[in-house]
Amino acid sequence: MIKVLRGVGLALMAVIVIAFAVVSVGGGSLLPKLERMAGLVPDDSGGGTVAGASIGGPFTLTNAATGATVTDQTYRGHWMLVYFGYTFCPDVCPTDLQRIFAAFKLMGPKSDSITPIFVTVDPARDTAPALARYVALFSPRLIGLTGSQTAIDSVVSAYRVYVSKVPGTAGAPYLVNHSAFIYLMNPEGNLAGIYPPDTNAADLARLLGQAVTTPAS
Ligand code: NI
Repeated sequence: MIKVLRGVGLALMAVIVIAFAVVSVGGGSLLPKLERMAGLVPDDSGGGTVAGASIGGPFTLTNAATGATVTDQTYRGHWMLVYFGYTFCPDVCPTDLQRIFAAFKLMGPKSDSITPIFVTVDPARDTAPALARYVALFSPRLIGLTGSQTAIDSVVSAYRVYVSKVPGTAGAPYLVNHSAFIYLMNPEGNLAGIYPPDTNAADLARLLGQAVTTPAS
């Protein structure tokens, strides 16, 4: 929860975190709370809404491994699991990426219909080669997307990701604080689920299994 609060700045995310905190006071298992948070309203604009705010939409980025230009349209017909972070992230990103692939393992073949995507929030350091090497550490399935600062700013805005650069100190590289929600987009490109950082692999596997209702085309 501390990690969540530290990374959250947008009013939308604050609403989600406050709602999360409020239901947390009631005690009980985490899973019903996550399911309540996942109560989303899809829309037809290439995104979906949470608490009245649209999340998702068009983007144009570069596939780090192939150098190909990709857009949201590239992934139509596939479930996308979208996560934002950066390769210098000291803890949250690698931990959550490991959880995602642990969840996929628990899901078995059903996870095959999901395309996992890691979008950098630090394109200055996350060049295509650097990002390609990083994502390969987690899974050969993980697609790294980078782009110009303008292109990254655009997708960060579309997904309501909070990003804040923290200057480095003597000899230490700068950090980038960022919100770390995991977004599930359906084959039509609409938001189908949103899961907070620190969701454990078993919960994530169950939530994804419930949400992914059709096989990939
Ligand atoms: Ni991170």
